[in-house]
Amino acid sequence: MKEKLEALKQEALAQLQDVNDPQQLNDLRVKYLGKKGALTEILRGMGALSAEERPVIGQVANDVRGAIEEVISSKQEAFQQQETEERLRAEKVDVTLPGRKLTQGAVHPLSKVIQDIEDIFIGMGYRVAEGPEVETDYFNFEALNLPKNHPARDMQDSFYLTEDLLMRTQTSPVQARTMLSMQGKAPVKIICPGRVFRRDDDDATHSFQFHQIEGLVIGENIRMSDLKGTLLQFVQEMFGDNTQIRLRPSFFPFTEPSAEVDVSCVKCGGSGCRVCKQTGWLEILGCGMVHPKVLEMGGYDSEKYSGFAFGMGVERIAMLKYGVDDIRHFFNNDAAFLNQFTRI
Ligand code: DAH
Repeated sequence: MKEKLEALKQEALAQLQDVNDPQQLNDLRVKYLGKKGALTEILRGMGALSAEERPVIGQVANDVRGAIEEVISSKQEAFQQQETEERLRAEKVDVTLPGRKLTQGAVHPLSKVIQDIEDIFIGMGYRVAEGPEVETDYFNFEALNLPKNHPARDMQDSFYLTEDLLMRTQTSPVQARTMLSMQGKAPVKIICPGRVFRRDDDDATHSFQFHQIEGLVIGENIRMSDLKGTLLQFVQEMFGDNTQIRLRPSFFPFTEPSAEVDVSCVKCGGSGCRVCKQTGWLEILGCGMVHPKVLEMGGYDSEKYSGFAFGMGVERIAMLKYGVDDIRHFFNNDAAFLNQFTRI
């Protein structure tokens, strides 16, 4: 039995020497030391031994097991080390290489101006409302006191999709939609930013698409002086504390009286320059007291309630604020232009 054990040891050690992968090593471990392995097989014969022989053979068997285990575990360690080295080599990172540059996006200047204007009005207690860009003839015109064939429709040459649907030419329809949704409740204080569309020239100051911000306030005893004070507050927050406004009489079908608002020139402060064409003033928005007919169509008793409204072009404000000379820059997605606004 002793010889058998010795022979087993020699055989196992010889085979282990040639092992060159972990799978093979494991197979040999099972073959020699496993529950059904060669060593167990030999030790089954222990029962036949005499009481004196048993501890001797037991000792030999333990030595054989120990010797085989030792070789296996040293081989295992070697394989593990080899694997670690290979992994390290494969995952090697050259920390001296220059880093990859992250291209960071920025808020588009028009979005920035819209956000700034929203913030100013939210600070005065307004809520932001929205409406659809594809609008019905009713909301875009009729509910704003512009019946079919009204000559004032000529001011806004439109893209019609069907007889009754068009790309909205102004954000004013959101006034009418908001009034109906409020079901005659007051006060109403909203601004609505959005994209509008007109068949227009394509030049430095005109585009078939642009953005407007509409404002609407309805309540009891709302007066023209409230409108004027609100707009002065707005322009001073937008363009600086020294900015002044003046109101010139004008006409819009949905307001009566109506006015056109100028700000003191953001470039020269009013003394006259190229930007304001030597007048000292720049036109920035239209406004007025909401026409009684518009209030009534919106579900408000015009004897009890009054209101004011205004509408401004976002591109115009952005051009004045940032000194941009062509409206088309905003829509061309030219990175050289947009990159100038990454830190505004
Ligand atoms: N919707 C007008 C336009 O596009 C601008 C405007 C003028 C809006 C007067 C108003 C307003 O709410 O009261 O030309």
